[in-house]
Amino acid sequence: MERTLSIIKPDGVSRGLIGEVIKRFEKEGIKIAAMKMLHLTKKEAEGFYAVHKEKPFFDSLTDFMSSGPIVVMVLEGENVIQRNRDLMGATNYKEAKPGTIRADFATDIEKNVVHGSDSPENAQKEIAYFFSELEIH
Ligand code: CMP
Repeated sequence: MERTLSIIKPDGVSRGLIGEVIKRFEKEGIKIAAMKMLHLTKKEAEGFYAVHKEKPFFDSLTDFMSSGPIVVMVLEGENVIQRNRDLMGATNYKEAKPGTIRADFATDIEKNVVHGSDSPENAQKEIAYFFSELEIH
């Protein structure tokens, strides 16, 4: 059984897409093992996206991610890292396959509704950034 971190970003929360995103996970048989709503500070957003700190979009991304509440979740299931990525679609919504969350709802390469871990190593780090083992059910 694998775990991954999912985030519904500030655009997804403010546009009323929390239920829509969770429905897609549950319909696929993906278990939500932990969930909370947070409003990150700029520093907390910078810590989460530290791997991107040299990228030209880092400042804008961390401004956006600290601009409003987000929903963070631990998803659990077989091969769930890849299954979540398949449900999200490509980072750039213009390249995302029809029927994916980003193809259906994203408005911008940055405001792309959801985040999902891209590897087992990053999933472990990202889950630990937000959740203690006691909060994962
Ligand atoms: P995410 O999957 O959370 O990982 C990094 C985020 O940076 C990405 O989704 C987008 O929200 C944002 N981003 C903004 N510009 C780019 C870009 N040119 N390439 C990749 N990610 C970008």
